[in-house]
Amino acid sequence: MPPDGGRRFTFDTVFYAGLKKLTENYYLVEQLLKVKRNCPGEVIGMMELLFYFVAIMQRFQILPPKGKAPRLEGTLGLTYHAVPQELRFVRRE
Ligand code: HEM
Repeated sequence: MPPDGGRRFTFDTVFYAGLKKLTENYYLVEQLLKVKRNCPGEVIGMMELLFYFVAIMQRFQILPPKGKAPRLEGTLGLTYHAVPQELRFVRRE
């Protein structure tokens, strides 16, 4: 008999206690798995991306390589998007 009067926290005891709780609350668990959940942080995440974009635009001028014009062709796929091109980030004074 362990000194604390019979409570042993082995992997098995903790695992089965957890399993017992899950099965006792089976209907609650089932509902939680069924419902569509949303991300509470998504708007914060999007805002953070906007801040990064704004900070880059405020600090840099984005130009084509020296002496070259930007390539204005596009590629037609699911969308019509600009071809990849080299860019120069010039620090704004
Ligand atoms: C653009 C950025 C983010 C995207 C695309 C995103 C996406 C997701 C997705 C797909 C889920 C799972 C939703 C589901 O269970 O069906 C989720 C859950 C979650 N996200 Fe985000 N996430 C973003 C940013 C964040 C941030 C910044 C935080 C915290 C500050 C956060 C906190 C959470 C939490 C706590 C959950 C669990 C919600 C729940 O279980 O009900 N997320 N997120």
